[in-house]
Amino acid sequence: MKVRIFDTTLRDGEQTIGVSLSPDQKLSIAKKLDALGVDVIEAGFPVISEGEFKAVKMITSEGLSCEIVGLTRTIKKDIDTAVDAGLKYIHTFIATSDIHLEYKLKMTREQALEKAIEAVEYGKSRGLQVEFSAEDATRTDREFLKKVFADVAKAGADRVNIPDTVGYSTPEYMAELTRDTVKVTKLPVSVHCHNDFGLAVANALSGINAGASCAHVTINGIGERAGNASLEELSMALQCLPHQQKYETNIKSQLIYDTSRYISKIMGIKVQPNKAIVGDNAFGHESGIHTHGVLNNPLTYEPISPELVGRKRRLYVGKHAGIHGMNAMLEEFGVKTTEEQSQQILDKIKVLGDQGKQITDVELLSIASDVLGEKGIKRIVQLTGFSVSTGIGTMPYAFVKLNIDGKEFIGTDHGVGPVDAALNAIQKITGKISELRIKDYGLASISGGSTALCEVTISVEDAQGNIVSSKAVGEDIVTTSVQAVIDGINRIMLKKMLKEKQVN
Ligand code: KIV
Ligand code: ZN
Repeated sequence: MKVRIFDTTLRDGEQTIGVSLSPDQKLSIAKKLDALGVDVIEAGFPVISEGEFKAVKMITSEGLSCEIVGLTRTIKKDIDTAVDAGLKYIHTFIATSDIHLEYKLKMTREQALEKAIEAVEYGKSRGLQVEFSAEDATRTDREFLKKVFADVAKAGADRVNIPDTVGYSTPEYMAELTRDTVKVTKLPVSVHCHNDFGLAVANALSGINAGASCAHVTINGIGERAGNASLEELSMALQCLPHQQKYETNIKSQLIYDTSRYISKIMGIKVQPNKAIVGDNAFGHESGIHTHGVLNNPLTYEPISPELVGRKRRLYVGKHAGIHGMNAMLEEFGVKTTEEQSQQILDKIKVLGDQGKQITDVELLSIASDVLGEKGIKRIVQLTGFSVSTGIGTMPYAFVKLNIDGKEFIGTDHGVGPVDAALNAIQKITGKISELRIKDYGLASISGGSTALCEVTISVEDAQGNIVSSKAVGEDIVTTSVQAVIDGINRIMLKKMLKEKQVN
């Protein structure tokens, strides 16, 4: 059975505290969501501001493949504005719970019902597809809710939605309300679940199992307060979980991670590391027992394969590490060790782990080079020439010469500062050779004064989504940055070269 994915990242998601998008940003997100395969994009609430109106208009004019819907109150002006923004489909809502009626709307139940019916009839008279939401449905008197849904269905609504506005429902109650609503309306029913008790996805899943055919969701689960049901969690749960009915969606799951990262970046909302499907740690393994299991058969500790959602497995080492996982990580970088050397490296890792340190691939390689000596670690890329010029009134300019596996390459470029110019020049070479890009760059001062030491941390990503991080410490920001980048590039190229060797 197909479940319709109604994405509200650009409406409820944008209501996340601290988020406010420009029309261009909203359009670029809409294009990403369309490419991901959502069925509907809730583009915004056109009446709230000129910028919002413009954004919705830009999205409705883009000719995307999915349907575009806009939010309206049960007010004619909102509906007219939605039509002016090019919408053919509205999501109109009014609160129906006694607490909202008394303290927010100052209306009786009958008055709210009348407004709901009027809005649906008006929307239909303007030729729109109308989805009606009874805001705070899960705290609404159950008999009154049935009446509201039955009456808006009679008034011509095309779809109805059950919002769990403050995340107050349990999966069981969501199922009951869904069954009621399907029965009294005979319309397609959506569920809109908030995550105040961490139950949004469970509630949405339960609504779907009880007959809802559509879920309102957001990327990364963003939204008011604790957010909404997350698109990535719900779509993967529908598709993959074994103890429930099987559903399909139109989501192209391999694009999930990329979309999540894009939206996190553009909205400035970090994804928590332990977030299911898209968090940094979702496909990472550190403990010896887990890493050993995953190396033998990934299904031991991975319920779904990371590739299914556009990700890669990452192994970490730390105080829980075992020899198998650590050797596997070292082998990824072409480092071969004897049993004795492995034990020595592992002992050092455990000492650092006991001091509370997390050991990245960068530190692992530097510990390995302490034990094996530098020649134990192969370097494919060598920096053979470098200069940078900067000053007032001239744009910083860098020249970089790299020897990559025996061949010389030259890159030159400008930048907003000397570091930027140097990194751009390097990227010009490496981008051409193996589509490497510098993904993150971090600079910290680790002592005071004009001779302060700086620490540069970077991560480099290749076209297949492999990510390697690297760190360098030095006195000069520019050369330290270049060193960190060259180190990162070495590691990722080494990893890639070894993989290619294994395949051939
Ligand atoms: O959570 C909610 O109730 C909403 C409504 C606008 C449907 O977002
Ligand atoms: Zn909501």
